[in-house]
Amino acid sequence: MNPTEDFSNRIEEAIKHPKNLGELDGADAVGTVGSEDCGDMLRMWVKFKEVDGKRVIDKATFQTFGCETAIAVASVATELISGKTVEEALAMDGADLSAPLGPLPPLKIHCAQLVEEALRSALAPDAYAPEQKNVAPTLLQRFQAPTQESKKIVLRPSNE
Ligand code: FES
Repeated sequence: MNPTEDFSNRIEEAIKHPKNLGELDGADAVGTVGSEDCGDMLRMWVKFKEVDGKRVIDKATFQTFGCETAIAVASVATELISGKTVEEALAMDGADLSAPLGPLPPLKIHCAQLVEEALRSALAPDAYAPEQKNVAPTLLQRFQAPTQESKKIVLRPSNE
């Protein structure tokens, strides 16, 4: 099997049953980003819990208008960050978040970076609870009825 086929198989396997897809009721924070590279968007919801006096990620979910790689990375990333503190999750980059899928081809690295940026947006100190900021509950509704929610555009150097 050549590397391209191997990658395609890994992604196909991951998106057959994506984990943590959809909005998260009672989320504590939400982050939405768009990629300048491809125009795709990804939103991530995060809910926290206290464990032994530490605030850790209880659950994270996502929605995306993105490619299959973004779906696959977001799926594995939301599983990877469960149980981590904000600091531990923020220490993970796109490569860490996509590690269970194996190495990504150069043209797909920005898909993992989109997931990383959505996570960073959701974990930012000024991240907000969805109910506090009139955030449209789904990405589709975000487009249909724009709210006061801001969208962060991820800028990447053109040589990546
Ligand atoms: Fe846009 Fe993958 S091509 S996120």
